[in-house]
Amino acid sequence: MEIKVAIEDIGKVKAGAIIVNYFEGMPHLDGDISAIDKALDGVISQLISQGEVKGKPGEITIIHSLGKLPADRVVVAGLGKQTELTRDRVRGVMAETCRFLRQKGIEDVATVAQGAGIVDISTESAAQVITEGALLGTYSFRKHITGEAEYGEIKHLLIVTSDEAELPALERGSHKGRVLAEATNLARDMVNEPANYMTPSDMAEAALRLETYGLEISVLGSEKMEELGMGALLGVSQGSQQPPKLIVLNYRGSNTAEPDIALIGKGVTFDSGGISIKPSEGMGEMKGDMAGGAAVMVAMSAIAQFKPKINVTALIPATENLPGGHALKPGDIITAMNGKTIEIVSTDAEGRLILADAFGYAKKLGAKSILDVATLTGACRAALGDLYTGAFGNNQELVDKVIAAGGEAGELIWQMPMHEQYGEQNKSDVADVKNVGGKYGGAITAAQFLSEFAGDTPWVHLDIAGTGMSEKERAYLVKGATGVPVRTLVGLVLSLAK
Ligand code: BES
Ligand code: MN
Ligand code: ZN
Repeated sequence: MEIKVAIEDIGKVKAGAIIVNYFEGMPHLDGDISAIDKALDGVISQLISQGEVKGKPGEITIIHSLGKLPADRVVVAGLGKQTELTRDRVRGVMAETCRFLRQKGIEDVATVAQGAGIVDISTESAAQVITEGALLGTYSFRKHITGEAEYGEIKHLLIVTSDEAELPALERGSHKGRVLAEATNLARDMVNEPANYMTPSDMAEAALRLETYGLEISVLGSEKMEELGMGALLGVSQGSQQPPKLIVLNYRGSNTAEPDIALIGKGVTFDSGGISIKPSEGMGEMKGDMAGGAAVMVAMSAIAQFKPKINVTALIPATENLPGGHALKPGDIITAMNGKTIEIVSTDAEGRLILADAFGYAKKLGAKSILDVATLTGACRAALGDLYTGAFGNNQELVDKVIAAGGEAGELIWQMPMHEQYGEQNKSDVADVKNVGGKYGGAITAAQFLSEFAGDTPWVHLDIAGTGMSEKERAYLVKGATGVPVRTLVGLVLSLAK
């Protein structure tokens, strides 16, 4: 989709469809929609007075202009109550409207800067969220489908405003939205890709393709891991024929040597559970167990395009978790890079193991803070469902910043508790720690396990087991990978650089 911005009167734009807004409960029309209503001989106000157009969020009404306007159709998109408007609602409405128009085979669309000037929404952020909604909402993963789609494609989107002074703001917002949405859609592609097309080596290749953004990329193989003593990452990988990779992406925006923040993403390209094998039903979903890794990887490409004055290193420990003849077994004891020994209670609690060694490496690099993202526990999904990502951490200031960045992005995050008594559940009789802390509080005991490896480095953990994939289409999410929390990560790094 090509997206352009212009200073233009929406009523003068020639397009397959133009989008104007109606707010729920507005007694009379003003501005753009009022002018369009007049041109259409009052049909919109008639639909409103007859109760057919209510302005509920997501309500879409299509009116054919029959030559009364240069555009073939007018779409009245409901935005809900004006006082309740949020940027995330604009994203969602734009996504739903674009899918509707695509279904009708309309290729050229123009829209007013929906939401601009309402509540606290600037023209720049309106352009950003319109762009994000359009690109995220029309995402599809059809790479392996040989047939034609049953819907068309919106080829051109024009965002207009009549205020000349707002052109640079429209341009900035639309550019920012495009970078963020394209990165998110790239993460979705990687997560939706089946495990036979997204092995650890494939992930490493995907990272190398991001070199064009000026990122330094290196990939550590198993020899280097052995040298570094990464017994936990190597342990998980040993049941698979696919060699593990520790993918490192470096962005340097400041002159100091150390990374200001290490973004660490779980990269289990397929989680069968290993010897503690998962039930076969739904196991295919575990191709998405590298969603955290994909998110931090593509966030780096967006960060490199925005060029904040901060150093960021992304680490993605990538491996399969399979029950091959050399696989880890329950009862085994392994040694992580930081020297801690770990008793394996379940080989299915593999995410925390590979993260432990990535934390060890981040600390060796001198990272001043750590943010990890992982599809870590079914328990987090049971607790929060598919709406909120769970946050855990040892530094409230950093937790607050992550939650705030999530709010800006429309990616909801809920802080979960940590307490040393939960940590007690991870005590082992035969090693320093065990990898499962019992039946209850599983998302928290997993976070407590990670905290042992974060040590005193300020650290936040995001558990995206519930939010990494969506079972249904919802606003700007489509079925399958969501790309959560790419936009949060980028927003956080930009805010830290300020
Ligand atoms: N990758 C899974 C967690 C998961 C579950 C992600 C559902 C997305 C959707 C993780 O490796 C896992 O298997 N966790 C176990 C831990 C348990 C053995 C302590 C779980 O949650 O059951
Ligand atoms: Mn597992
Ligand atoms: Zn897993």
